[in-house]
Amino acid sequence: MPAPTIPYALPELPDERRLAAADEFIASITTRRTCRHFSDRPVPRELIERCVAAANLAPSGANRQPWRFVAVDDPGLKREIRRAAEAEERENYDRRFPDEWLEALEPLGTNAEKPFLEIAPWLVVVFRVDWEWHGGEQRKNYYVPESVGLACGFFLVACHLAGLATLTHTPSPMNFLRDILGRPKNEKPFLLIPVGHPAADARVPDLRKKTVQEVLQWNR
Ligand SMILES: Cc1cc2nc3c(=O)[nH]c(=O)nc-3n(C[C@H](O)[C@H](O)[C@H](O)COP(=O)(O)O)c2cc1C
Repeated sequence: MPAPTIPYALPELPDERRLAAADEFIASITTRRTCRHFSDRPVPRELIERCVAAANLAPSGANRQPWRFVAVDDPGLKREIRRAAEAEERENYDRRFPDEWLEALEPLGTNAEKPFLEIAPWLVVVFRVDWEWHGGEQRKNYYVPESVGLACGFFLVACHLAGLATLTHTPSPMNFLRDILGRPKNEKPFLLIPVGHPAADARVPDLRKKTVQEVLQWNR
């Protein structure tokens, strides 16, 4: 049965105001960068909850919201996660990554050492939920990676607008996160996102972004 409907309208604005709003958003998001050097300065739990609330408003296939956000600040858990992530990353850098991938990573200066996993005040682990129990039956979710990716995008933007630094981290394979965090079998780790404040001496690679002309085509 279709859901009941409610009215939907957006504020009427002159086009100049719309352009100004878009420009303002671009200006604020231009300073978002992936941070790999965190300080241990605490971040209140409420702030993490608000950013997850923003993520939770993302569109999702059939509105299933096929995500679970696990926010970790327990030092013992962070230590376990660091240890397991570094073990996977050592395999990745020493054996599993093909030369082409190592070359692609070279400008970022990353390696198997992940001290930020203990230093950042929060590790937000995002799980994809491919199916859920519904009325005693397993019910499949739809467009799961697309949906979870969008929710993560909302989360990263919410953190940035709240003045928090993030790192989109994938120490793959990431099944150790399900084991360490005691999550059920229908939850699969998707991203590991340290959240906090940049270290006082934090630096980021000076990367070039494609221009809008390079990524946008009008019609054919
Ligand atoms: C799906 C995904 C996985 C990523 N995995 C890692 C990672 O494991 N380690 C890391 O240091 N950065 C990782 N990154 C961050 C990218 O390297 C970074 O977004 C990219 O270099 C662009 O830099 P910027 O985010 O500062 O604009 C990942 C980003 C994405 C979107």
